[in-house]
Formats: sequence, structure tokens, C-alpha cells
Amino acid sequence: MKNSYHSNTHQYIAFTMLKFFLLLLCCLNSFSFAATKKSFLQCLSTCKNANNKLANITYTPKSTNYTIVLQDYIRNSRFNTSKLRKPIVIVTPLEESQVQETVKCAKKVGLQLKIRSGGHDFEGLSYKSKTPFAILDMFNLRSVEINISAETAWVQAGATLGELYYKIWKKSKVHAFPAGVCTTLGVGGHFSGGGYGNMLRKYGVSIDNVVDARIVDAKGRILDRKGMGEDLFWAIRGGGGASFGVILAYKIKLVPVPPVVTVFNVPKTLEENATDIVHQWQYIADKVDNDLFLRVFLQPVPGRSNGSTTVKASFIALFLGDANKLVSILKEKFPELGLEKKDCREMSWIKSTLFWAFFHDDFPETALLDRKTVANSFKMKSDYVKTPIPKDGLQGVFKKMIKAGNIWMMFNPYGGKMSEIPESETAFPHRAGNIYKIQYLQYWGHGGAALDKKNIHLLRNLYKYMTPLVSKNPREAFQNYRDIDIGCTKYGYNAYNQAKVYGVKYFKNNFDRLVKVKTEFDPENFFRNEQSIPPLAK
Ligand SMILES: Cc1cc2nc3c(=O)[nH]c(=O)nc-3n(C[C@H](O)[C@H](O)[C@H](O)COP(=O)(O)OP(=O)(O)OC[C@H]3O[C@@H](n4cnc5c(N)ncnc54)[C@H](O)[C@@H]3O)c2cc1C
Ligand SMILES: *[C@@H]1O[C@H](CO)[C@@H](O)[C@H](O)[C@H]1NC(C)=O
Ligand SMILES: *[C@@H]1O[C@H](CO)[C@@H](O)[C@H](O)[C@H]1NC(C)=O
Ligand SMILES: *[C@@H]1O[C@H](CO)[C@@H](O)[C@H](O)[C@H]1NC(C)=O
Ligand SMILES: *[C@@H]1O[C@H](CO)[C@@H](O)[C@H](O)[C@H]1NC(C)=O
Ligand SMILES: *[C@@H]1O[C@H](CO)[C@@H](O)[C@H](O)[C@H]1NC(C)=O
Ligand SMILES: *[C@@H]1O[C@H](CO)[C@@H](O)[C@H](O)[C@H]1NC(C)=O
Repeated sequence: MKNSYHSNTHQYIAFTMLKFFLLLLCCLNSFSFAATKKSFLQCLSTCKNANNKLANITYTPKSTNYTIVLQDYIRNSRFNTSKLRKPIVIVTPLEESQVQETVKCAKKVGLQLKIRSGGHDFEGLSYKSKTPFAILDMFNLRSVEINISAETAWVQAGATLGELYYKIWKKSKVHAFPAGVCTTLGVGGHFSGGGYGNMLRKYGVSIDNVVDARIVDAKGRILDRKGMGEDLFWAIRGGGGASFGVILAYKIKLVPVPPVVTVFNVPKTLEENATDIVHQWQYIADKVDNDLFLRVFLQPVPGRSNGSTTVKASFIALFLGDANKLVSILKEKFPELGLEKKDCREMSWIKSTLFWAFFHDDFPETALLDRKTVANSFKMKSDYVKTPIPKDGLQGVFKKMIKAGNIWMMFNPYGGKMSEIPESETAFPHRAGNIYKIQYLQYWGHGGAALDKKNIHLLRNLYKYMTPLVSKNPREAFQNYRDIDIGCTKYGYNAYNQAKVYGVKYFKNNFDRLVKVKTEFDPENFFRNEQSIPPLAK
């Protein structure tokens, strides 16, 4: 009795002291956050160009619109919770010089910056952090200046792909740009990570068509291609922007498209021989005419009999030509699909962007300007396939998908232009030798932490199952399909070994050159996140 009383008392005292200590720590911490915030804002207000504009571009938790501005570009409901650490300030520059001042002031007071353009980062790295941070939000910087006679455009980082496509279409019906299908993606994140879309077999990824850029570096300087030099310009084409500076804008080369393109979406279920047809697709997808991009989209769907589930494989195409030619190509190269002319739809390239984004082309072109997205929780992963998956392998995958119920897969063909560009040409390394890239997509409504965990476990399970069927040494991954399961750093120096784990998956042999560029331009590792490129210790 006595002993237990004593030990309880001791425990109580120890517990009280601990509480007191934690409280003290917490207060000290929040004092120091407050001090950091104050000195950051003070620094900004003394800037040459600040005048009275500061109030227009800074949001602290006390500001009326702080929560709206924060949530506007949170695209994954998983990270849209009150539990998440919030930025101590959000800066939304209206001018390039304000980006420079933000970088200089954050560096001066030692505040981490997360840079956000479209906010689509799958893991929310552009707006969340474990340590105190500010968001530099680029959505106000979104001009698109097109020069049709030069066939070029300057696109600011905060522009969305939809805005870019719309503005090209306003100027010309026979020009386009090879970039992503989802129209709300931000240029800043999308291009710097490579950026692929349904013209990659013809024109490569977005950065293969980038000819210049403007960046704010760790010293707060604005540099264009000439100013930054070829090494840094190389790095921000596929190596991600967030490790190297703030991308202000990219200059792109527009590409020609015919006035009429053709699309189709032909579904086949397992009962309609989907397994055989997908299997055969692997032998033609990367070799067929470069004008054709033929994707396979796999989903578990209700089967014919009550309560059963099957897999639907949707064969979705963009062909840069007319329907007759497309039908004759596929009759010869891929008769298993049984494509007929009535499956095809001819339309303008701009309508095809609507068809691909929304599965409807009867939306008005102005739908491309819409910045809203559907709110969902999601988790994504990626893989590259270099040898066709055998039929029994596919059958196993489909069984897993049926069991999980909410995992989709996208098979995106490579080949064509992708195989002609050397791996070291840009920081984006996934070139010749890939038949296709797999994207794993898993969506669920907003369900809280337990449901998040349950779903993510299912996806990790499928990813593990895929190990023998996909690329090895390294198991490659696409940086724009951010996945923190494949490794992270704790921000420190000497993070080389930690970073190499994800670094070689995302960048293969380009990783070491990226580290070299990083060491030269940002030796203090000011621009960093959970999966950035670390500098080498001095
Ligand atoms: C629905 C959906 C569909 C997608 N479809 C495709 C597709 O078809 N093709 C494809 O390639 N990808 C696709 N993606 C992935 C997409 O390309 C990446 O998520 C990309 O990083 C998004 O860029 P963002 O600017 O919208 O994201 P953000 O979250 O703003 O940024 C992503 C990363 O880039 C950094 N960054 C952002 N802006 C800058 C800047 N100005 N300077 C420096 N660093 C910056 C961020 O800090 C972060 O690390 C898709 C994503 C989603 C959610
Ligand atoms: C905010 O911006 C608007 C429009 O640019 C301007 O009219 C207004 O004066 C600015 N307000 C402040 C406080 O800077
Ligand atoms: C907050 O946002 C609303 C809606 O966009 C806008 O009308 C209002 O002026 C903003 N208020 C402040 C203080 O920025
Ligand atoms: C985040 O929450 C806000 C407020 O509840 C909501 O309006 C918004 O749609 C949510 N966004 C996402 C991506 O969940
Ligand atoms: C467009 O490009 C042409 C050809 O390079 C050039 O002469 C012209 O000045 C450019 N126009 C603008 C508005 O920059
Ligand atoms: C599936 O393939 C078999 C054998 O090749 C064939 O007989 C059958 O007609 C096909 N079914 C469909 C729906 O195409
Ligand atoms: C499915 O089952 C329900 C109830 O068991 C029955 O009413 C319905 O007719 C069945 N539908 C089909 C298509 O078999």
C-alpha cells in the first residue's frame, strides 16, 4: 500500500514537472515562432518596393482570409485538416521583386519557405512541413505571353495548364503544348518535375520544349538562362524547382498540331477479353506511330452478375490525324482492340484537351480557366515497365485490384520521341527502354486518419506485389508523382545517403549532377523539403 502510494506520488510529481516543462518549452517555442514571424514581416516591410502593398500580399493566422488562401490550393483532402501544422505566414506576390524580397527575408530570419504554384503535390510538400514555415504562393503570378510568329511563350509559374492551353487556342488553332491532362496543374511544379501528357510520344515531356527560364536563386537574384548558366537550367528541367530556387516563369516552344485530331475511349471488361487485349497492348504501345498516344485506364467496376466485380480497361487515345488513318493503323497494328470508325471522334486539339480532362468535349473552352477541383483524399505511386507483364501477372494484378476495390491504374505508353532523347539531356531520366509508366491512383472521400491508413496500406500492398514485374535497380519512379514512401530526408546536411534512396529512383544517374548543382547554387540548403536534393557538406 505504502509503496504504491509513494510511487504514485513520485509519478504525480514527475508528471507535473513534465507538464510544466512541456508548457515552458511550448511557450518558448511559440515566442520564438512569433519572433520569427515578426522579424520576417518587419524585414518585408522595409523592402524598397513594399510601400503599402504588404497588407495585400501577406496573410497571418489573424488575417480574415488566411484560411481561404491556405485551403484554395490544398488539392488533397488528406492534408486539409485542422491538425496539420499551419504556415506562420502566407506570401502571395504580385510582382517578381516581391518574390526576391520574400526569399531574402526568409533566409535572413531563418524561416523555411514552401513554394506553391498549383498545389497538386501528391504529398502536400508545397504547403505542409513538420517545422515552422511560410508559404510562398505563386497564384497571382500567372501571365501567359504568346508570340505566334516566334512560336514561343513566356508562362509564369502560377499559371495553370488550362490557362496555357486556352491562351494558345485564342491565338492559334494549329499550335499546342505538350503537358499534362489535368488542367488545374500549376506550371511551376509540373514543368520543373518534367511534365508529361498525351503528346509525349511525338514531342517528349514539357521540359523538352522549354527554351529559357527565370528563377530567383538563394541569393535573391533573378536569373534567366544566360544568367544562371547551363547547369542550373539543366537541373530545373526535371529535377524539380523546389531544391534550387523559385521558378518565376518558363519560356516554351509551341508545337504544331493539325486542325483536326481524333480521340476515342473504348472500354473492355475482363469478360470481353481485357486481359488478352491489355497483354497485347504492351507489344505495340511504345512502337506504334508517334502521332498516337494510347493509354490504358484500369478500374474495378461492378460485374454482370449480382455482387460481382470485374475490371474495366478503357483504351483512351489521342491521335494527331484523322479517324480514317487511325482506324487503318490500328487495324494493322492492334486488331485485338477491334477499333471501328464509329468509336472515333474528330475534333480540334483544344476540344481534345476537354475530352481528356473531363471525358466530355461539349464543355465550353472557358472550362479550361476553372481553377476549382473536386475535393478528395488520395494516394498515388508510380512504376516503369521495361518488359511486358505476362498474362498470369496481369491476372494477379486484376485480382488484387478487385479485392482492394478502390485502386485504379493508368498505363501510359513511352517510346517515340522519349527514346530519342539521352537520359542525361535533362534531369528527367526516364527515356529509352521504357514500354510504359504505371500510375497507381487511389481516391476516397474525406474519411479521417484511420481510413487514410487503411487505404494507403492496400496500395502499398499492391505496390509490393508488383515488385518482380517492374523496373529494378533502381525501381524507377516519376518525381511529379511524389511518393514519400520511397524515402525522405530530415533536412540536415550530409543528407546525401538518405536522399540517394529516392534520388536514384527519381533521377537515376542524374542524381549526382543535381547534388553538384545544388552545392554550387544553394550550399546552405535554404530551398529544401522532405524529398529535395541536398548539398554536399563543405
Ligand atoms: C489530378 C492530377 C493529375 C495529374 N496529372 C498529371 C499529368 O497528366 N502529367 C504529369 O506530368 N503530372 C501530373 N500530375 C502531377 C503534377 O504534375 C505534379 O503534382 C506537379 O508537381 C504539380 O505542380 P503544381 O505546381 O500544381 O504543384 P505544387 O504542389 O504547387 O508544387 C509541386 C512541387 O513543386 C514545387 N514548386 C511549385 N512551384 C514552384 C516554383 N514556382 N518554383 C520552385 N518550385 C516550385 C513545390 O514546392 C513542390 O515541391 C497530376 C497531379 C494531379 C493531382
Ligand atoms: C491592395 O491592392 C489594391 C489593388 O492592387 C490597391 O488598390 C490597394 O490600395 C492595395 N491595398 C494596400 C493596403 O496595399
Ligand atoms: C477576403 O476575400 C474576399 C473574397 O475574395 C474579398 O472580397 C475581401 O476583400 C478579402 N478581405 C481581405 C481583408 O483581404
Ligand atoms: C478543404 O476544406 C474546405 C473547408 O471545409 C473546403 O471548402 C475545401 O473544399 C476542402 N478542400 C479539399 C481539397 O478537401
Ligand atoms: C515575336 O517574335 C518575333 C520573331 O522572333 C520578334 O521579331 C518580335 O519582336 C516578337 N514580338 C514580341 C511582341 O515580342
Ligand atoms: C474472347 O476471345 C475468345 C478467344 O479468342 C473469342 O472466341 C471471343 O469471341 C472473345 N470475346 C469477345 C467478347 O471478344
Ligand atoms: C440482384 O439481387 C437482387 C436481390 O438479391 C434482386 O432483386 C435483383 O433482381 C438481382 N439483379 C440481377 C441483375 O440479377
